[in-house]
This record gives sequence, C-alpha cells and structure tokens, in this order.
Amino acid sequence: MNVLVTGGSGYIGSHTCIQLLSAGHTPIVVDNLCNSNSLVLNRIEQVAGTRPLFLKGDIRDRAFLDSIFATHDIDSVIHFAGLKAVGESVALPLKYYDNNVSGTLNLVSAMDRAEVKSLIFSSSATVYGDPASVPIREDFPTSATNPYGRSKLMVEECLRDFQQANPDWSITLLRYFNPVGAHESGLLGEDPQGTPNNLLPFVAQVAVGRREKLGVFGNDYNTPDGTGVRDYIHVVDLADGHLAALDKMTHQPGTHIFNLGTGQGNSVLEMVHAFEAAAKRSIPYEIKPRRAGDIAECYADPAYAEAQLGWKAIRDLQTMVEDTWRWQSKNPHGYC
Ligand code: NAD
Ligand code: UD1
Repeated sequence: MNVLVTGGSGYIGSHTCIQLLSAGHTPIVVDNLCNSNSLVLNRIEQVAGTRPLFLKGDIRDRAFLDSIFATHDIDSVIHFAGLKAVGESVALPLKYYDNNVSGTLNLVSAMDRAEVKSLIFSSSATVYGDPASVPIREDFPTSATNPYGRSKLMVEECLRDFQQANPDWSITLLRYFNPVGAHESGLLGEDPQGTPNNLLPFVAQVAVGRREKLGVFGNDYNTPDGTGVRDYIHVVDLADGHLAALDKMTHQPGTHIFNLGTGQGNSVLEMVHAFEAAAKRSIPYEIKPRRAGDIAECYADPAYAEAQLGWKAIRDLQTMVEDTWRWQSKNPHGYC
C-alpha cells in the first residue's frame, strides 16, 4: 500500500517507516521537522535499503496537503504528527490545540476531499486518566488531566463523530502505553530536544554521561517498591502494531480502538536496574517528590488487540534497554 506517514521522521514514525518498507509498503513521509531531524531519512535508507519520499511541510497547511493527495495515489494515512510534551502543553495550551486538534481536522478534511478513507491515529494511554483499576481495557472511561491529554481525547471524539457520519471510513485509534527502545541496528532511536521528560531517555543520558543523576519521582506509591509502574513497549513492536492495523482494518469500515501495550507493568527502579545491567554501569539516582499529575500504576490489557489484530508485543524488557543503550552509546548526542 502507499501510506502517507505524517510525523514520519519522528521517533515512532521513523521506526514504522522501516517496518512498512520491510513489509513491501511504500511510505510517503510528511513532517515539518519541528521535533525531528532530516538525517533520520539517511538512517532509514541505511537500514531498509530504500529512502522514503520526504515532503517537508505542516499538516495545518491545506494547500500542501491537497497537492500531496492530488499527486500521489494514497491508500491509507498513519497520523503521528503532533506535539507531545505534557509540561509545555500546560504552559502553551493553544499551541497544542492548534497543532494536534486543528492539524488533525485539516488532515481529515484533505483526506475527505481526496476520498482517502482509511486513517490510523496515534492516541495515548493518557486518555484513561487515573484508571480505577489495572490492567486497562479499551472500554474503560476516558478523561484528561492536561491539555496534551485533552488534545488526544478531543481528536478521538472528533474522529468518532466523523466516522459515524461517514460510515464507509475506517478509523483506527491506537492507544500507546510507554514506547521505549530503539532499532536493533543502533541507527535509529529517540532523540529528545532539551531535558527529557520521559524516564528511559533520561536514564540513557545519565548512563552516557550527559546528565549527573536521575530524579525518581516518588517512592511512596502503593506499588511493590513504591515507585510508579508503567507498561513499557518496544518501539518496533509498537510499529508492528501499526502494520497489523493497516492490514486488518484498512478495509473494515468503523471506528476501531486498540491498546498497544505489553500487559506487563515495571517500576521505575526495575527500569533503572535493567538499564544498569545492559550498560554495565551504575545509574546514580535520588528520590524526589512525586511529579504533579502522575499516577501510581498504568498497564494495558492487550487481549483485544491480539484477538482482533493478531498482534502482540514480543520484545522483552532486556531487549528494550539493550537496544536503547546501543542507540544512546553509538549516538551520545542523538542525530547530529
Ligand atoms: P516525535 O515528536 O518524535 O514525532 C512527531 C513528529 O511530528 C515529529 O517529527 C514532528 O516534527 C512532527 N510534527 C509535529 N507537528 C507537526 C505538524 N504540524 N506538521 C508536520 N509535522 C509535525 O513523537 P513520537 O514519540 O514519535 O510520537 C508520535 C505520536 O505518538 C504523537 O502524536 C504523540 O503524541 C503520540 N504518542 C507518543 C507517545 C510517546 O511516549 N512517544 C505516547 C503516546 C502517544
Ligand atoms: C508521560 C506523560 C503522559 C504520556 C506518556 C507517554 C506526564 C505527567 N505524563 O507519562 O501524558 O502519555 O509520558 O509519553 O508527563 N519518572 C521519574 N523520573 C523521570 C521521569 C519519569 O521517576 O525523570 C517516572 C514517572 O514518575 C513515572 C515513570 O517514571 O512513574 C514513567 O514516566 P514517563 O516516562 O514520563 O511516562 P508517564 O508518566 O507514563
């Protein structure tokens, strides 16, 4: 299939492009490079042997999108483009609503004009808010605690309404748990700008000597060791979840919702110790107060995705941290 991949030079998008190419699909990458580097395209080519077509531009630009759909015969769209920093979204909510919500509406309108009726959207486990219990199923109630999360929830709701009004469309909402890891080649990985917000990139930067020590946000949660528990999923497994959705859902009209997680919860300290073993060095850390908005435990019930998509995550925690370390140690300053 010819697949338009918005945000295709970003962390998850670039790994998905490699998996698409390996499976014989043709990704066309659209990205404005606001949070990625065009060098990623060289790395994709090095790994996959083919360089995807790259179109630099913004998904909020109507004429740009119309020209893409007029020029290329697109079968389906995987929509990763978006902003994802929770703290920044609290300070600059309009920036998030404009980029994530207006951007998506503009994309769907352009698809509608071009009669491209299959969309896969990057949603997040953040739409479950503070869940009443774990593991989390797709039918659990949704809520948002910050503008980033609200932008994901708003888009989910807009897309459901749109699909109901246009029953021949296929819209798949993929709710990611915590993506980590890197391509096994060590050529692609996560390259956060500034101080990393997420745990594993921070740990990796401590291991490589870019940061002195990790702050562990709270050790008084009601969890086995008191630190927060999350469902960490290897980015290549996550990418494969998109391919499964593309294969199984493109020609199935409806709104389809899937958790993409492993079903396994790991604590902050378990992650630190696993990383220490992979990097063969100690990760200094200190216990800090809880981070505002954090929850104790969050992990998926992945059974519905497995039943419907025939997909499940297969890479274990050791692979996640070893691949992260390979990427970070080979590229201590990311793509540069
Ligand atoms: P990323 O920042 O690495 O990739 C997003 C890409 O989108 C970047 O390359 C950026 O330049 C591009 N982009 C942003 N706004 C754009 C616009 N208006 N026009 C064109 N390109 C634009 O992030 P990621 O981790 O790869 O995340 C991909 C998607 O998955 C995002 O929508 C994110 O919200 C969602 N998500 C990510 C996580 C996570 O932990 N990484 C978890 C849940 C959901
Ligand atoms: C964060 C976002 C969430 C987003 C998700 C995936 C917040 C409040 N939430 O969630 O909206 O969907 O990333 O991108 O930012 N931790 C530390 N020290 C650190 C960093 C993290 O102890 O320096 C802890 C956290 O308290 C948490 C765990 O590590 O218990 C994972 O944190 P993180 O990687 O930020 O992911 P989430 O909190 O799940």
